[in-house]
Amino acid sequence: MNVSKYDHAARGKNAPLYAYYAKKIKDETRVVSGRCLDAGCGGGYLGLALACITDLEFTFLDISPEMLEKADAHIIEDGLENRARTLQADVHNIPLPDGCMDLVISRGSIPFWEDPGKALSEIYRLLAPHGKAFVGGGRGTPEMRKQFERNMKKEGLPGPDGKRRRPGGPDDPWQIMKGRDFDQILKDVGIPRFSAPIEADGRWIRLWK
Ligand SMILES: C[S@@+](CC[C@H](N)C(=O)[O-])C[C@H]1O[C@@H](n2cnc3c(N)ncnc32)[C@H](O)[C@@H]1O
Repeated sequence: MNVSKYDHAARGKNAPLYAYYAKKIKDETRVVSGRCLDAGCGGGYLGLALACITDLEFTFLDISPEMLEKADAHIIEDGLENRARTLQADVHNIPLPDGCMDLVISRGSIPFWEDPGKALSEIYRLLAPHGKAFVGGGRGTPEMRKQFERNMKKEGLPGPDGKRRRPGGPDDPWQIMKGRDFDQILKDVGIPRFSAPIEADGRWIRLWK
């Protein structure tokens, strides 16, 4: 993935997408204070949008140091040093204690996880009593999706192998999200409370304790 180009688009023409999902997460979860983890955060775009409309304190986790450099810069640009920190880690093995998060969010990262069941178990482990997770992917409303795909057409969709992906093609992360049997994956790892619907604006897995 070309980190600089992805970052430039995410903070520029694709920024409305993150504001849209931040509002959706706030409206649905009603978690507006406490601790929040943004898993596979990239440059922190979703968490930073949520920080603007809540009092949550953030941990931004990503496996890529290059992405976290962007997140660190954006935390400073947005004046959030007092309630945000970055953590380089793999979502399959998160070095944080049980029950330490009130909310876990993640957008656009799950298609790249080697073992989504294991990673979702890790996320569930981190949830405090009454904690919630909102994990998935999408490109906003159908209108926003068209715009996003136009924006990403020249660059190609991102992937960890650096290969360009054509929007709508078989390796488009969104096609991967739609095709996975998350109900079975979540049952297999024993997570008791979840939903994983496909909606007009993406696929979002909700977990709650
Ligand atoms: C398409 S980007 C999405 C970034 C951001 N969340 C967004 O919505 O724009 C996918 C991100 O997931 C991260 N990622 C992939 N596998 C990961 C893993 N196993 N653990 C943590 N982060 C991972 C990548 O480094 C990348 O920053």
